[in-house]
Amino acid sequence: MRVVPFGRTGEHVSEMCLGTMMFGDRCEEAESHRILSAAVEQGATFIDTAAMYCDGLTEEIIGRWLKDRRRDEVFLATKVHKGIDAQSILSSIDESLARLQTDYVDLYLIHWPVEGMQPARIMEALAQVVEQGKARFVGCCNYPAWLLAHSNAIAGENGWPRLVCNQVPYNLIERGVEVEILPQAYTEGIAITTYRPLVLGLFTGKYRPGEPFPAGSRADDDPRIEQWLNRFADAFTQFFAFAEARQIHPAQLAVAWLRGVSAVTSPIVGVSSFSQLQTSIDAFEVELSADDLRQLAGMFSPAEVQEIGGGRFPELRRIIDLTG
Ligand SMILES: NC(=O)c1ccc[n+]([C@@H]2O[C@H](COP(=O)([O-])OP(=O)(O)OC[C@H]3O[C@@H](n4cnc5c(N)ncnc54)[C@H](OP(=O)(O)O)[C@@H]3O)[C@@H](O)[C@H]2O)c1
Repeated sequence: MRVVPFGRTGEHVSEMCLGTMMFGDRCEEAESHRILSAAVEQGATFIDTAAMYCDGLTEEIIGRWLKDRRRDEVFLATKVHKGIDAQSILSSIDESLARLQTDYVDLYLIHWPVEGMQPARIMEALAQVVEQGKARFVGCCNYPAWLLAHSNAIAGENGWPRLVCNQVPYNLIERGVEVEILPQAYTEGIAITTYRPLVLGLFTGKYRPGEPFPAGSRADDDPRIEQWLNRFADAFTQFFAFAEARQIHPAQLAVAWLRGVSAVTSPIVGVSSFSQLQTSIDAFEVELSADDLRQLAGMFSPAEVQEIGGGRFPELRRIIDLTG
């Protein structure tokens, strides 16, 4: 597993970031610990979690694993749970640290921007978190480019730590970030971590156009799987044929495509079982040519995929009603 620069922080992180959202949900504790240990043994030491995953249980599961490890072995990111007012930020970090059984996280992220938020108060509270030694770096998720620039201008004026990372949904279908977020990050040296690389499992090949869905998968409670499979049925057929012709697992092909985008620091790979982990780790050995990357991108219609930024994301790009 290669390590890559984490934006312009001077820090390096593993190219694969392990997503833990399924720990305590579709993946029980012992299996989650097995996944964490195996990932770290193979060099995937960048771990992403959030206070809201399973209402704190995911952090607790990681904490019970972390307490027996060397803390500096991993680069650990978590996210603010409650509102994003200053008081919530300051109490949420303490609760996360208690659950994670550690004194600090490497990266503390705002989880979602909301309308009417107060960027100055948020940046001030994040500065306090860093000042108190509870986070080494701060960042955000799902921020439009203008909001990240605005927040960092405030930080610059006040001598506060800047947001060094933006975590966004990005894959062959959800490509809204290509319009402004990726160019901004690339230009300004912001680290980009990308979630939903396999589109909830769609790119693993276990959902095929016209075939019944496997029982007990995330399709049971996420309607987007069926919607996107139908909407991009032709593109998926081409994608699976491309993978088969090169004898590459489709999940590895989807992750390898993300690795080919120069603005991307680390794709966040989510697994719900130990057996899924190895497939994902091996994706970091797959090299695609520039022509492969272009062909894959071209399978999914650019106009359509750029409109899909992930959930409420396209609306958030346009909200400019901030206070304070
Ligand atoms: N900041 C944010 O707002 C935000 C939002 C969402 C996620 N995230 C982060 O991003 C991470 C990844 O998100 P995600 O889980 O939605 O990613 P994803 O790549 O879209 O989906 C992962 C799912 O794909 C399936 N899968 C993975 N490997 C497989 C394999 N080899 N064979 C068959 N199926 C496989 C599993 O589904 P089954 O469980 O059905 O087997 C797994 O749960 C999360 O863990 C979290 O850390 C952040």
